Amino acid sequence: MAPLDAVVGWDEDTTAEAYAAFTRSFPMYGAASRDLARRADLADSRLVVDLCGGAGATAEAILELVPSQARVISLDNAAAMQRVGRRSLTDPRLSWVTAPAEELGDHVPGLADAMVCNSAIWKTDVRAVFAAAHHILRPGGRFVFNIGGGFAGVRHPDEKRARTGPSLNTLIRQVAARDYGYAPPPAAEAPPKLSLEAVTEQLSAAGMTVLDTEIIAQHGTMAEKKAWLSIPVFARPEGKFTHAQRMSILAKAYALTTPAAPTVTSWLVVVALRPREKTLSALAADVSGH
Ligand SMILES: C[S@@+](CC[C@H](N)C(=O)[O-])C[C@H]1O[C@@H](n2cnc3c(N)ncnc32)[C@H](O)[C@@H]1O
Repeated sequence: MAPLDAVVGWDEDTTAEAYAAFTRSFPMYGAASRDLARRADLADSRLVVDLCGGAGATAEAILELVPSQARVISLDNAAAMQRVGRRSLTDPRLSWVTAPAEELGDHVPGLADAMVCNSAIWKTDVRAVFAAAHHILRPGGRFVFNIGGGFAGVRHPDEKRARTGPSLNTLIRQVAARDYGYAPPPAAEAPPKLSLEAVTEQLSAAGMTVLDTEIIAQHGTMAEKKAWLSIPVFARPEGKFTHAQRMSILAKAYALTTPAAPTVTSWLVVVALRPREKTLSALAADVSGH
């Protein structure tokens, strides 16, 4: 077996360049970002945060909806991703902050009208991030994010309908087993990493409320899945493989598929809100029971 790859992370130029190239060629991150930005109610906003903004696909969607005098802060802890984003996104309303999501509160000046987080929240310490969201949002401000269906434990009906053969990931595991003796970890029924129940409970603990949720389906093709699995940070199988080996396994697995075959990815979308404080008269009415 080949030596273990250096740990592949987000703060690497190869991942950042491949991610940005994927985002330019395929709609996945751009479309998901536009969907979240639309739900964030940005028309009158003055300060908006793009949390875990990476190379800026979500910031771009936000910038399309905010007024001309608004400020947008894109925060991510991977400088390599932001270096790529800075090259193409030069809108003067946008500033880049390199910091962990959990330390968001130290980097947002004033109260933000909204925060958007595409395709990342389950990678963070959500308790810390939800508490920080409450801290940086104005009362009535929205925090809109999505959770990959596998992490949230949800599947849109389209995903079940679209499945006609083995997934590319299944084929990757089969080829890796055949060519490298790869033994996949036992398929134990693991609980979802971040269910809606857990999100609701942790938002509530942070003083936030859930305004809306929806399970949505994103439609793509096998060719898009292959391009996505070529980004170093997403390449499979996990374990002791070099990137070159993973790419060779991917090519063989992909050859067993139909490139135009439809694929469906499910997402759980959550619109959370920092509630408005009650007025003195509303509090008095609560006390008196009216
Ligand atoms: C799939 S990318 C999404 C980027 C962007 N939102 C988009 O839609 O293109 C995930 C991003 O989350 C960032 N990330 C993951 N965990 C983080 C954390 N704890 N703090 C800050 N950024 C984080 C990674 O560096 C990466 O850029």
